Amino acid sequence: MDWGMKNRLAQLVKEDGRCLFLPVDHGYFQGPVSKLENPRKTLEPLLPYTDAIFVTRGVLRSSVDPDRAKPIILRVSGGASVVGKDLAHEGITTSMEEAIRLNVCAVGISIFVGTDYEHDSLLNLARLVDEGERYGIPVMAVTAVGRELKKRDARYLALSCRIAAELGARVVKTYYCEKFEKVIQGCPVPVVIAGGPKVDTEYEVLQFVHDGIQRGAIGVNLGRNIWQDEHPVAMIRAIRAIIHENVTPKEAQELYDSVKSGVA
Ligand code: 5RP
Repeated sequence: MDWGMKNRLAQLVKEDGRCLFLPVDHGYFQGPVSKLENPRKTLEPLLPYTDAIFVTRGVLRSSVDPDRAKPIILRVSGGASVVGKDLAHEGITTSMEEAIRLNVCAVGISIFVGTDYEHDSLLNLARLVDEGERYGIPVMAVTAVGRELKKRDARYLALSCRIAAELGARVVKTYYCEKFEKVIQGCPVPVVIAGGPKVDTEYEVLQFVHDGIQRGAIGVNLGRNIWQDEHPVAMIRAIRAIIHENVTPKEAQELYDSVKSGVA
């Protein structure tokens, strides 16, 4: 691996081998999602606690100050919307030249295994990897399920993650699921977990993040369950403690409660 690739990966994955990525890219197909209507306002209090942000170029330029930024994972796929025909019909929206101009640490692209656009999205990933490798920019593949949240089982996610790794993704983002270890065992590159739609209680989030890490994920790329929480700073700090300080879900909940009540 060349110096540039190593250096970018080292900015994303910390010395303990773990990472906390904060995605705020949801607007690229969902528009002004609840609690992300003003990305700058959502991001600013959370930036000190994240290792990297996952963002489109539009939000990066408009809502993140270059002198206070964290490492950037640039969302470079898109072209579909929640009101369009098919969420899986994505292409590459942003060139590698633009990624270099923005000095990003990685680029991210969704793949849609099992859909009508499986082939296109996988070839898009492969092409992006060819370009990323040429310039030392790692590619994070996102195993997207669109509206089919039921697809999030170990068999499907293991298939998608493995394909992403085979096509050259340096990191794969997938969902936590039952028998998550099967996903990890079948994927030869590091895996981070997303949260999906907000779940009912913060403790559930702390538990699945903890469990995912115990079963081999290197960290999270967790959005709505952080910034749609009533106390986003408390939530990100609790998750950070699980990832980088190996605390239990119970200890993380205690931290959440004390940040929420202004004690920590
Ligand atoms: C949305 C994405 C997000 O980056 C990913 O789904 C993680 O966010 P969340 O935890 O809210 O699901 O790819 O396009």
